[in-house]
Amino acid sequence: MNSHDTRIIRDSKVLSSMTRSAIAEGKTVGLVPTMGYLHEGHASLIRAARAKCDFVVVSDFVNPTQFGPTEDYATYPRDEAADLALCAACGADVLFIPDVAMLYPNGQDSTWVEVSRLGTILCGASRPGHFRGVATVVTKLLMISRADYAFFGEKDYQQLTILRRMVADLGSPCEIIGMPIVREADGLALSSRNVRLTPASRIEALALHRGLEMARDSYLAGERSVQKLIATAQSEIDLQPDAKIDYISIADADTLDISTDDAGSRPLMLMAVRFGSVRLIDNMKLFA
Ligand code: PAF
Repeated sequence: MNSHDTRIIRDSKVLSSMTRSAIAEGKTVGLVPTMGYLHEGHASLIRAARAKCDFVVVSDFVNPTQFGPTEDYATYPRDEAADLALCAACGADVLFIPDVAMLYPNGQDSTWVEVSRLGTILCGASRPGHFRGVATVVTKLLMISRADYAFFGEKDYQQLTILRRMVADLGSPCEIIGMPIVREADGLALSSRNVRLTPASRIEALALHRGLEMARDSYLAGERSVQKLIATAQSEIDLQPDAKIDYISIADADTLDISTDDAGSRPLMLMAVRFGSVRLIDNMKLFA
C-alpha cells in the first residue's frame, strides 16, 4: 500500500521552508486540510490534489477552536498511522501534524478570522464560533503551506462556501476547490464521525440520504414550495426513533441565501441531524 514516501512534518517552519523550495523549483502546492481519521472522502481530495499539483500537503489537525464547549473535541477519533498509510497510498508528499501550541502559540489570546452572515446561519446557528475557528485555522494552514490550491469536500458545503468567500475577501491567491460527496454504497455520506454511530443509528442515518433524494425527486417533478420540499425530507427522518433534527433548510447553491417560499432555480437542501451525541450533516442539489 505504501506507494509514496510521505514525510510526517510537525513543525510549521519546516513545512514552510519545504514549500518555499518547491515553489522556487516552479512547483505548484496543493493543500488538503483535514482533522485526520482519514476515509475515502479524504482520499478523493488527496488524489485530486495529486492530479493537479506538483507538491501535495495533507494536514491532520483536530482544531480545538472550531468545537463548542459541549462538543466532541475530546472524543474525536484519531489514528495517525492509518492516516499516514492512506496519504502514502494517495501520493501525498507531506503529512503535516502540528500540535495545538504550534498553531495557536498564544492560545485564546490570538488573532481570529471572523466570518459574518454566512457563519451565523445553518450549522453556524447551532455551533456559535464554529466557522470562526475553521476560517482561522484554514488561514494559518494556507499561509504556512503557501498553497496554490486547497481541496475541500462538498459534504461540508457551508464550510466550502465560507472558505471561497474568505479567500476572495482576504485577497488570498489560493484557489479553493470543492469535490463531490463520497457515499457508502447504501448512501450514507462518509464522515469520520460515522464510527461513533451505534449499529441501530447507522441504519437510521440512511434516512438523511433518502430524505434528500425524495426532496430532489419532488423538485424535479415540479414542486417549488420550500415548505413542502422540507416536509418531504423531514417525514422520512421523523420515522427514525433516535433521530433529532437540528435543521433542514433550502438555500441557493451559490450564495447560500436561505429560501423561504419558492425554492428557485438552484436549490440546495442542507440538513443536520443528531443521533445521540453524534451530529451528522448532509446536503444535495435538488436541481438537475
Ligand atoms: O473539514 C474539516 O475537517 C475541518 O473543518 C478543516 C477544514 C480541516 C478545518 O479544521
